[in-house]
Amino acid sequence: MAPVTNQAIIDQVNPQDHPGKDVYGVIGHPIAHSKSPIIHAYFAKQTNQSIHYGRIFSELNAFKETVEEFFVRGGKGLNITVPFKLEAYALAQKKTDRAQLAKAANVLWLKDGELWCDNTDGVGLTRDLQRLLKNQQTSLKNAKVLILGAGGAAQGVIDPLMAESVSQITIANRTFAKADQLVAQFQPSAMAAEVHLEARDIQNIDQSKTQANDTFDLIINATATGLGDASPIPKELLKAISTSKTLAYDMVYGKETRFMQDARELGLNASDGLGMLVEQAAVAFETWRHLKGADSNLDIDGAIAAVRATY
Ligand code: ATR
Repeated sequence: MAPVTNQAIIDQVNPQDHPGKDVYGVIGHPIAHSKSPIIHAYFAKQTNQSIHYGRIFSELNAFKETVEEFFVRGGKGLNITVPFKLEAYALAQKKTDRAQLAKAANVLWLKDGELWCDNTDGVGLTRDLQRLLKNQQTSLKNAKVLILGAGGAAQGVIDPLMAESVSQITIANRTFAKADQLVAQFQPSAMAAEVHLEARDIQNIDQSKTQANDTFDLIINATATGLGDASPIPKELLKAISTSKTLAYDMVYGKETRFMQDARELGLNASDGLGMLVEQAAVAFETWRHLKGADSNLDIDGAIAAVRATY
């Protein structure tokens, strides 16, 4: 373990300042915006657990030292956010299957003296989607899914969706070649999972119809458009490829995006990605606190409401 060199951690979350409590944190660069402390405090209160959860800023070149320092000082677990997920994965001695699949980690904890990592982002997304789809009496099983975008966010959702036995994943991107590349990359696992995987041009999603009624059960906006004020597809196109049962899901959270507004105006169910953030936190909380998976009865809706109240 590294010597005590990282002053930042002492200023922010020093486990030694919280005697009698198990101390956790989220580490990133930047980190001030993180809502994770609100979510974990909510779960801790709900389950009567005595924990402290804070934010930790790390310099870009000090991630390893900051993490080691945290655990040397008695910290119990960390969430990892941008840009350190690859480094966290590399640092851990033990990796869950999910982390190995993603080759990136958003959760770290010590067990029997070894540093473990997990990736709960994918399962966070699918748990959130299942929760939303259940409200409309459907599920991911056999669903036809359209992913808008072919960057890092899009790439991260493909394996988790296949694991839920969707029937089709269509990837549409402004730069078609990138969608095509993703399809080529995931084709072997899609075939093994018996999922039909295809790429389409984003402006002509409906014109490459192979069937008269070519609509999607779930449309995920994984483009960066949610950060600004645009939608990746025109409203008329969204209308043409959806039914009244389609769920429009934007991976961005904390705002009503143009994509979500268009969907609602068309009478579709729409959601931002806040539930995904809360669900990935719930899985980490369950691991750290030894609770039993989806049956742990963590109050997801309550945690979402607690975060929304801060916007
Ligand atoms: P992330 O890691 O968040 O996915 P990224 O890898 O930079 O970020 O990917 C951004 C995605 O948003 C890409 O699919 C990008 O499309 P291109 O590959 O054509 O660049 C998409 N995107 C960004 N702005 C967009 C816009 N105005 N309309 C449509 N797609 C857009």
